[in-house]
Amino acid sequence: MSIRNKLILFVLALLTSVSAVMTLLFLHNEWGAISSVNQNKNLQILLAMSEVCRKVSDAPGEAAAYKYFKAFLKTPDITKVSCADVRGRILMEEQYHTPQPGASPYLAKTFPHPRTGSWETRTDGGVETLSGLLTARNSRGREVTARVDFSTRLMCREMEDSLHQSSASFFIILSIAFVIGCIGTLIIARLVTSPIQSLEEAARMIGSGRLDHRLPVTSGDEMGRLAAEFNEMADRLKELDGMKSDFVSSITHDLRSPVTGISLCADMIRELADKREYGKIPEQVFSIAEHSQRLNHFIDSLLEISRIESGKLKLDLKPINLEELTDRAVRSFNTYAEQKGIKLEFIVEQDIPDTLGDPDRLYQVLANIIGNAVKFTASGSVDVFIRTEPGWQKVLVRDTGIGIPAGEIKNLFSKFYRINPGGRGYPSARQGTGLGLFIAKSIIGQHGGRIEVASSAGKGSEFSIFLPARAGAH
Ligand SMILES: Nc1ncnc2c1ncn2[C@@H]1O[C@H](COP(=O)(O)OP(=O)(O)OP(=O)(O)O)[C@@H](O)[C@H]1O
Ligand SMILES: [Mg+2]
Repeated sequence: MSIRNKLILFVLALLTSVSAVMTLLFLHNEWGAISSVNQNKNLQILLAMSEVCRKVSDAPGEAAAYKYFKAFLKTPDITKVSCADVRGRILMEEQYHTPQPGASPYLAKTFPHPRTGSWETRTDGGVETLSGLLTARNSRGREVTARVDFSTRLMCREMEDSLHQSSASFFIILSIAFVIGCIGTLIIARLVTSPIQSLEEAARMIGSGRLDHRLPVTSGDEMGRLAAEFNEMADRLKELDGMKSDFVSSITHDLRSPVTGISLCADMIRELADKREYGKIPEQVFSIAEHSQRLNHFIDSLLEISRIESGKLKLDLKPINLEELTDRAVRSFNTYAEQKGIKLEFIVEQDIPDTLGDPDRLYQVLANIIGNAVKFTASGSVDVFIRTEPGWQKVLVRDTGIGIPAGEIKNLFSKFYRINPGGRGYPSARQGTGLGLFIAKSIIGQHGGRIEVASSAGKGSEFSIFLPARAGAH
């Protein structure tokens, strides 16, 4: 069932129960009020009757007293009135009409009697009567008892008639309110659910690949904010989609170029063998080895990245000496630096105590940063310093290479990011994947350290690796 229908059902159920409760309360209160009016009327009649009785016993046959009887006739539920003296002798009696059989059980049970006089309900021959008796004294001090009999059936009918009259207007008002409530519910249900429907529609469109679809933000309420969030999510999704495409094309390119290189070398070897020029074959074999190494490096980097991103990169922490590790990394680039005619130096400024770290991962970081410095320096020098700072051990790699434009520094640690690969002054795209610094930052970050970069384009760069000094590592 749709949210709109659920909402409508819920509000309708609510309206119905509220109407039912209001009706019950109204009927209860109204019946109470009608009963009390009726009770008061009965009492007034009995009091008037006792006055008549007093007058009749003072002066029997006085005409003025009898005119009241006419007045009582206007009250249709009175069946009989009488006056009796203290010995029970009837001084006067008037039967208005013969009560019909039948009773109102509701009235008999719930109708409260007035406090003045004595009241009783009797059933005689199937006729239910309410009798009120009140004793008064005449001017000579003699007691006379006035009695009025009411037909409960007629009295009840009269009360029910007035209840019907007053409830008619109540039910008209209630029905109008109910209809207005239903119309309001339909309007509110529509207002509430139409943004949800557009959201559903938009989610379906995005799901089917139409990433350009956006929701109109028409209000500042929760739905408006939800639409704005949704649009932001769609923007991000589009951005991620673009990144995914870039990633796939990067990977495809980086995988294809060494594979193409290997296949070209293999063709060349076949040709050389056909021509029996065996002396040139070792050069091609060396090229194949170089391409394979590059392929391996790329695949290793990809695996490393998937480990980092899935949180599965685990460090094997043990006491290490950062100076020894750095020394080893520097040495591994001696030949490369010599080939390029660059002076590569390792300067130890003070004794470096042991600290905790994963030696293989840290070596990987140092090798990438020192390797980058040599790779991106055409002439001049690469100096590697090691020193301690309060709470830290710091390796600083300074080169006199091509440098990094200020605007590029923030992107350096992103995946696959290379500055202008193959551009002027840059080594060919063959020489890197753009993953090294991303991996380095994650590894150093996991050690609780950080990497800082300072550079100016054309002059050189400085990369500083900060590793927490853990005193007492042994
Ligand atoms: N010392 C440096 N001087 C100038 N540019 C640098 C330096 N170090 C890094 N860069 C720039 O940052 C980019 C990213 O470096 P990163 O180490 O992540 O990748 P890479 O060296 O190209 O490839 P990989 O490390 O995977 O072999 C480099 O391609 C280069 O453009
Ligand atoms: Mg690198």
